Order: sequence, then C-alpha cells, then structure tokens
Amino acid sequence: MSVDACAEFMHVADADPDLRIRMRAMTGVRELLRLARGHGYEFSALDLAAVSQASAETAAGPPAPPPSAPPRPGGAVPPRPGGAVPPRPGGAVPPAGTTVLHAEYDLDRLPGFGAVLDLLPRVKVRPPTVDLAAFADAFDPVDLASTDLAPSGPGYRSWQAGLPSASGGGRRDFHLVNLDDHVVHPGYDDYLDAKVRLVRALEEVFGPEVRFSGSMWYPPSSYRLWHTNEDQPGWRMYLIDFDGPFDDPSATSFFRYQRPGSDELVTLRERPRMARFFRIEQDPARLFWHCIVNPTLRHRWSFGFVVPDGWRAALEAAA
Ligand SMILES: [Fe+2]
Repeated sequence: MSVDACAEFMHVADADPDLRIRMRAMTGVRELLRLARGHGYEFSALDLAAVSQASAETAAGPPAPPPSAPPRPGGAVPPRPGGAVPPRPGGAVPPAGTTVLHAEYDLDRLPGFGAVLDLLPRVKVRPPTVDLAAFADAFDPVDLASTDLAPSGPGYRSWQAGLPSASGGGRRDFHLVNLDDHVVHPGYDDYLDAKVRLVRALEEVFGPEVRFSGSMWYPPSSYRLWHTNEDQPGWRMYLIDFDGPFDDPSATSFFRYQRPGSDELVTLRERPRMARFFRIEQDPARLFWHCIVNPTLRHRWSFGFVVPDGWRAALEAAA
C-alpha cells in the first residue's frame, strides 16, 4: 500500500541527516513526492496527507512541524481558497507600547550571511513551466485594490463578502508563483541543491530550527492579498531580491500590515537584497494581517524561513 510506503519513507527520512535537511528545504508536496520517488518510495499526495494527519493526531507537540516532519500538503501555499479569516469586530486591543512588529536589514550587512548572498542567484529561478501569459491574464485590479483597505474596516469586509460569487469559486487570494510547486523543469535540481545549502548556511547563524516556509516568485503586477498565517505562528525571516534596482524609491513593491488593535496600515517599501523579520500571532487580538504587492515591472523573489524566537541574539552572536 502506498500509505505504508509513505510512512516508511518518513521513518527512513527521519533517521537520515541528509534527507532531513533536504526536507527542511522543501515546502511543496510535489517536491517531497519527487524526493521519495528518487529513493524508491512511490506514494501520492493523498497518502502523504493521511500519514501527516495520523502523525499530527498522535503527536502532542507544538503547532509548527518539527524540522524533520514532512511539509504539510500545500505547506507553504497560502492555506485557504478565499483565504483570509475575517477580523473579529470589536476585538480586544493588544497591550500598547513598544512591541516590535517587524525588523529589516540589508542582506549585505547581516553577519554570517556571505554564503546566503552567494546562493541567492541560484534560487531566483523562473521555471519555464510557468505560463506567464496566463498568469498576466489572471491579474485582477479589483483584488489588487483590496490591499488598500484595512482588514478591520467595512470596505474590506464587503469586498470579501463579494468574493465567492465574483470569483466563480476560483482562488483569488494570491497572484504569484509558488516556486516549490514547479519540480519538473531542467533547473529544479540545482534550485533544490541551492535551497539545501541555504538551510545549511542559515543553520550556522540560527541553529537547527531554521527551515524554509515558502519560496515565492512575484512577476510584474503580482500580489498576495490580506492574510494572517495564524495557523503557523512564530517568527519568519524573508530574504527578498529583485531582477534589478528600482529607479523611483516611491514606486516599488511593498509589504503592508495592519497594526494590531488599530486601523493603521504600515507600508514597507522594498529594495534589492533585503531581509525582513516579523512575527505571526495566533491571539485573535494580535493577528498580524499583512499583504504583499509588486505593482512594478520588476521581478521579485521572496524566500521565507521559520527562525527561532532568539533570532536577534543569534545575529548579534554572529557579528
Ligand atoms: Fe504571509
């Protein structure tokens, strides 16, 4: 039975340091199926889902999978069609004060990131299996305009309420390319090798908790609409780069979030070779609503990682 093959592969992978680190570099189900097939284990995404569910039901661990656990089906893919969970009206205001919601750095200035910078060009791929013409056709200016609305506001809620009938059931919460969904192209093996090396390089700085959470290509006119990622709490680090610099610093891609407990939108303009850290919360009063927009002609890549709570001390120790 292929469920048994899947369970056996997971067992074997857990005991093999090389396979474990490969799996920490993967976020897509297709990647995992391909890796297993290469080791003689044939099973389907449904088998993987069954084994993952059984594993989750027997383990009383933390919500995020441990480094050796398989990526969840659709692991890095934004989780739900129509995705965003509506904010709770009248939600409690989180404690005011100096809570740091995000931090940004120039990659060139981060201690211990020399190898990361060397590897970055190898993961900024454009798989030829992506149909960019079809991608461009799927662009929706009304969806894009929703990123100007505060998720706590009535305008956003009415836009969201109109989604199902307007979309015909199709997924609209992101308009970007999940690179880890594309495993059948000539560059995939080198891309995966570079991802594994990236995990190894980041492990030197942050320790063994670090793993990929998503590898995204944002072609021109792309976006990820408002969402919270509340099912995957903890600190994230995103490495962000482009195919060239922006001529106008006021016309760039951006990351936007709503300050929890307020209607304030914070827009973070972007530049090549940067790292952004932010924390995903599960507390309904502190949900980290955020969106990403690339309204430019540049290609944008962002590589997300789960990093430990002590990431800042780790950076200081690496300096
Ligand atoms: Fe996100």
